[in-house]
Amino acid sequence: MRKEVFQMIWIAPSLLAADFSALGQEVARVPQAEMLHIDVMDGVFVPNLSMGPQVVASIRNKTRQIFDVHLMLLHPLPYIESFRKAGADWLTFHLESADDPEKVISAIEASGAKAGIALKPGTPIEAIRPYGDRLHSVTIMTVEPGFGGQKLKPEPLKKIRQLKEWFPQVLAEVDGGVNRETVAQCREAGADILVAGTAVFRSQDPAAEMDFLRG
Ligand code: DX5
Ligand code: ZN
Repeated sequence: MRKEVFQMIWIAPSLLAADFSALGQEVARVPQAEMLHIDVMDGVFVPNLSMGPQVVASIRNKTRQIFDVHLMLLHPLPYIESFRKAGADWLTFHLESADDPEKVISAIEASGAKAGIALKPGTPIEAIRPYGDRLHSVTIMTVEPGFGGQKLKPEPLKKIRQLKEWFPQVLAEVDGGVNRETVAQCREAGADILVAGTAVFRSQDPAAEMDFLRG
């Protein structure tokens, strides 16, 4: 997928805000979403735990939507293959993780998934520069990773302009606190993909919410 044919903002509902007791039904509430954002947490890189490959595999047969898997793991490298096998289409790891980014990107490429890097709010965009040519997307976090339902920090959005200057082909994904109040800032900053957990899954009408966020 290239920016030239990328006409609309894509919405990636984050399953973290879904009802975990009924994930299959929750997925069925968002058929209009271009992809599903799946947050994976290890309790070490972030102070929270979420889901592993088994959960991803269990929802894989519920939908053909793209699985955008966000790995908040101190050591993503040993888990690339299992998340790919579970059905991940895109695999994003944190640049602040402890593994060598070149090796993680190579492992993602070898698995057949598309590689992305996520940056915490305080990590400068310069850190991405050595890897940009190999990336499909960069996730600009607008909250500290670990929890849904936080307030968007606007400062990190400025990174998108620099990212696009260096790597116009790389998709810019904004993650954290995206809702009706904050979506305009994200759009103006040049986001290609908006992750939205609380806004979409805690809404009575996820389709209307996604329409609004798309603009
Ligand atoms: C936070 C996660 C986000 C989160 C977004 O660590 O990476 O994807 O689920 O949730 P909202 O949209 O509620 O901020
Ligand atoms: Zn996320």
